[in-house]
Amino acid sequence: MTPSSALPSAERPLLERDAELAALEALIEAAAHGDGRLVIVQGSAGIGKTRLLTVARTFAAGAGFRVLMARAGELESAFPFGIVRQLFEPALARAGADDRLELMTGAAELATPLFAPNAGFEAPYPPAEPSFSILHGLYWVAANLALRQPTLLAIDDLHWADEPSLSWIAYLARRLDGLPLIVVAATRPPEQATVPGPVTELITDPLATVIRPSGLGSEATAILSSERLGTHPDDEFVEALQRATGGNPLYLTALLDSVAAEHIDPSSGEAERVLAVGPQVVSRQVEQRLAQLAPQARALVECAAALGGETPLEHAAALAKLDLVDAASTASALVRFEFLRSENPIEFRHPVVRSSIYETIPLGLRSTMHRRAAELLLGRGSRPEKASGHLLATFPAGDSFVSDTLRAAARRALEHGAATPAVNLLRRALDEPPADDELFAVLVELGSAEQLVSGTDAVKHLATAFGLPADQGSHAALAIRYSRALWLVERFEEAVRVVHDSLDELDSAAPPLREELTAELIGASWADERFYDLAVTRLAEIDEAGLVGGVGTDRLLALLSDFEVRRGRDRQRAVALAERSLESGTLIRERDLGFFSVSAVFIVAGDLERVGSMLDGTLLEARRHGDAVSAAKLVTLRSLVELLRGNLAAAESDVDEGLELSSLLTIESTRFACTARSVRIALERGDTDAAADLVATLERTKPQPTAPQEILLRDARGRLALLQRHPDAALADFLACGLAARSAGIENPAYIPWRSQAALALRALGRLEEARDHASIELELAKIWGEPRAIGAALLALGLSAEAEEGIDLLRAATEATAQSQFHLEHARTLIELGAALRRFNKRSEARQNLLEGLDLAHVCGAAPLVLRANDELAATGAHRRTVLYTGVEALTASERRVAQMAAEDTSNKDIAQALFVTVKTVEMHLSRVYRKLGLSSRTQLADALSQPALKHP
Ligand SMILES: Nc1ncnc2c1ncn2[C@@H]1O[C@H](COP(=O)(O)OP(=O)(O)O)[C@@H](O)[C@H]1O
Ligand SMILES: [Mg+2]
Repeated sequence: MTPSSALPSAERPLLERDAELAALEALIEAAAHGDGRLVIVQGSAGIGKTRLLTVARTFAAGAGFRVLMARAGELESAFPFGIVRQLFEPALARAGADDRLELMTGAAELATPLFAPNAGFEAPYPPAEPSFSILHGLYWVAANLALRQPTLLAIDDLHWADEPSLSWIAYLARRLDGLPLIVVAATRPPEQATVPGPVTELITDPLATVIRPSGLGSEATAILSSERLGTHPDDEFVEALQRATGGNPLYLTALLDSVAAEHIDPSSGEAERVLAVGPQVVSRQVEQRLAQLAPQARALVECAAALGGETPLEHAAALAKLDLVDAASTASALVRFEFLRSENPIEFRHPVVRSSIYETIPLGLRSTMHRRAAELLLGRGSRPEKASGHLLATFPAGDSFVSDTLRAAARRALEHGAATPAVNLLRRALDEPPADDELFAVLVELGSAEQLVSGTDAVKHLATAFGLPADQGSHAALAIRYSRALWLVERFEEAVRVVHDSLDELDSAAPPLREELTAELIGASWADERFYDLAVTRLAEIDEAGLVGGVGTDRLLALLSDFEVRRGRDRQRAVALAERSLESGTLIRERDLGFFSVSAVFIVAGDLERVGSMLDGTLLEARRHGDAVSAAKLVTLRSLVELLRGNLAAAESDVDEGLELSSLLTIESTRFACTARSVRIALERGDTDAAADLVATLERTKPQPTAPQEILLRDARGRLALLQRHPDAALADFLACGLAARSAGIENPAYIPWRSQAALALRALGRLEEARDHASIELELAKIWGEPRAIGAALLALGLSAEAEEGIDLLRAATEATAQSQFHLEHARTLIELGAALRRFNKRSEARQNLLEGLDLAHVCGAAPLVLRANDELAATGAHRRTVLYTGVEALTASERRVAQMAAEDTSNKDIAQALFVTVKTVEMHLSRVYRKLGLSSRTQLADALSQPALKHP
């Protein structure tokens, strides 16, 4: 056979692509000016996607772009972030040390573990679940590059891309606006993708521009034909070509080559026979030509096909057991025979050629080749995750090299937050199967990885592991993991039993483990009322003095403190325990669950200042580490502190961010808490409609059947109903709230003042005596706990439902109590209620005095309905209404305020964007609106403008 003498394919002029090229040029030009975009070129194999991508690269380079390139390979979809690495590794390697440092600073630093050769995650306290922080970090790597020079990310064969890279592209697509960064990706239809879901999502994303090159028309077909066959074709032949190939240039040229090679006259009937082959033409040609190859050439090309799309010649030679000189000349022959486009690295003329060759290799042989390929790659310094793609293509054989490599790859995948690939690798490792003494570890690793993906699968594998013999430490650690997995799929009873039984089996020789297990047992049992007593018994058994230190100890102290808070007996003790639990610093540093319960302790104990600064500090750390999950939880908790302190605007800005982040990360429990908090804030702000919508959202979300969520829902809905003058509905909710609270041992009115709320509902129903009963019980309990705001709230409810004079005294006492607290909003409320009551009894001057004081405070809090009410009452005393002036700060939205606050603290736009997990463009947009609303002309004026209270008096 004579090799074709036609031009190498890449140099043939592109036919009939004017529209596509014009679109690409326009998009690239727009991107140069900050109009970043995701562009997807979609079409079947051979339609001309790669060629379009090449032109786009050339054009962008000419327009001054930095061009970064990646191509997915069929065997590499198991390699997490393979595409991302291909894109950035060369650029980072090229950058000098200084540049590299600059590119990888700030949030981009979060992505460093990905680029560190064979190093693990080195951040001192990585977030428990690094997936988001890596995405976020990678986004900033791309943004930093683009902010220095307009950048094109060109990705070919996206249909074979690994899932983490695809997630990242989706993440990036939402953040391209405002960046001189364009992503152009070529893909076959999603049905042909290795992971079809994410590819479909990208293609259907309204943010993506999709270009679909169509088959070549008759004119282009005629040109190709005359170019290849040397004669002008007649119309019939052109039509036949088009019928056979749909105008697909790859198949067209291959068919024409066949016609030429067989010296067939295009107008003869024989041409029909050749054309009838259609798209199969490439594999037919490949088979025919393979048969003509010398054994050595055949071996080399098969090995190259098994190794994948683009391979160093050396690897293929080694796999084919050829020396490099022989391999090089053989490879050159393969180029002449049009199998290959280049010999080193070996690159096939087209992926279809590669897969056609691959298909001819018998299955069993393929498996052996892949096993050897993996060994070879590892031996030459490849990362295990790169080698593991080959191992996934082998038949299970009880080979410990296979299972060990797969496990190593999975471990690294997990370090990079790539849970799904890790699960796939570990499932295959389990199928191998691993050696008996490794089985336990593999099952635990698999179950733990699955926990990040699918709760039910996790439970299955952890259960199997739990049945296997293991040393005490491993067994105990597994018990904790398994119990949490059960908990997440709402199998509470088993969750409790697992830790309970393990604790029984553990001998006393392992106190730190015992403590961790005990903490787990208590934590698992007391969110479910059926096990509440068990939790209490275990708590009572704790020997506080004998705690040995370590995370188990800290968690136990936090639990003890939490318990004290629920019972509401001894405030000093609760606070002391909370302080002790924080002493070692572990809970804070790891943003452990215990940290959140301890923060709640300080809130209920009334120390808002302390908890406020604690949350601020921890939030700063979470932002620095890209730990968006903790950031979401922290702002949600801080919103409560701000609400209680009476900083309604700040509370709003926190719930706003909490809702954004928890939706982005799909953390349902945080989203639920945040929504409930928004209801309360909206009510204090006077936005009843918004509150009603939010309550509807809460009802739509299926709450977990746990006391905390039940309490949140009932409390929020009850307060809304009370304001909407549906006291019976409100009463029902508050009573249900109380039931839920007591089922979890919560007796403390400072924790949830359901009785005084119920009293207000009863009062509205005219059932004064019952109202007083509820309020007095609450007052008793509040006095035992001794936190002034709780006492004030109970006194307020009691005073409002009491008889004339006595009521006024109670209200006076209420204002005195709340005056001592840090709960300014509650204080404003008691002052205004006292003023109103005094007015009803015609004590005008004392009424005015309290109303004015309350009104001022309500102003500062931004509590519009209280201000209105105070003004109405003032008018009723015959005094003038207070005129309220807005400083303009009031007009800021929560996000604007959040951004403005940080800008006022001298943080750069980029740093703000990184800390808030948004884009620089978003920050700029917010800030420009802030300037307009506040009438500012420069950033230096911000701090002053913001430090004024939202409302001021003339
Ligand atoms: N518009 C075109 N005009 C002429 N030849 C083309 C055109 N588009 C693609 N080709 C040729 O068709 C073959 C397949 O193109 P390629 O870009 O590799 O397709 P894909 O990436 O979609 O599989 C290549 O040989 C290429 O040169
Ligand atoms: Mg291609």
